[in-house]
Amino acid sequence: MLFGRKKQNNPIEVPAGLADLHCHILAGVDDGARDDDQMYELMRLEYDCGVRYLCFTPHYNPALFPPKPEKIAESFEKAKAYAARELSGMELFLGNEVFMRPDTIERLRDGSCSALGGGKTVLAEFSPSMSAEEIRMYAVKLLSAGKTPLFAHIERYEHFDDLQDIFDLKDLGVKYQINTSAFFGPRKKLVSKLVEQGVIDVVADDRHNLTRGNPNLAEAYIYVDEKFGERAAQALFVRRPLDILNISNQ
Ligand SMILES: [Fe+2]
Repeated sequence: MLFGRKKQNNPIEVPAGLADLHCHILAGVDDGARDDDQMYELMRLEYDCGVRYLCFTPHYNPALFPPKPEKIAESFEKAKAYAARELSGMELFLGNEVFMRPDTIERLRDGSCSALGGGKTVLAEFSPSMSAEEIRMYAVKLLSAGKTPLFAHIERYEHFDDLQDIFDLKDLGVKYQINTSAFFGPRKKLVSKLVEQGVIDVVADDRHNLTRGNPNLAEAYIYVDEKFGERAAQALFVRRPLDILNISNQ
């Protein structure tokens, strides 16, 4: 058992086998881990939380972060070597958190940015000022290009308050990720409602460094298990993320 609290006198066990599909742990490529040592420390933290499938998602937002494909490749190789040496059973994947712009589909096609684990699911980020219509337009563009949008930390967007928008996009094929902090933030009631209705696909902690305050995945797993039950925790931290990575959980 990694972590536990009492739930009707039974400890909750966080299984070793969680998946994290949204983090900024890869060294020296965005506003996440500064150097290799910090990357290794953050990987160890994820491992100790029970994460065994870790997808690095550096920002792809050329207006804020100059793309560094060589550095991404170099840091990924170092991360793989560290995991092989120190983190038994940890599997690593690469993708991007893609800030949606008019040329995004083209950039996905030419390999400037990539879907999660090289699959077809794109972790998509939007400007908070984007209208619901623009967001919908980007979702349709991605779907038409054969991609599945996974909206990053949807609790951040004002449109999130319109549940009908959320449901409509879900019907189109959009998936949703929330940050662990969403359970405790100003929209926690809405988040709970969406989790209860099975609308949320992935919980991640969007980890950037050692001090940023989002609860870690083990803490969030326990919270979800306590509040929504073990099936919900398994779905949000294991089954649905692994489906996105095309990994069988059997
Ligand atoms: Fe992020």
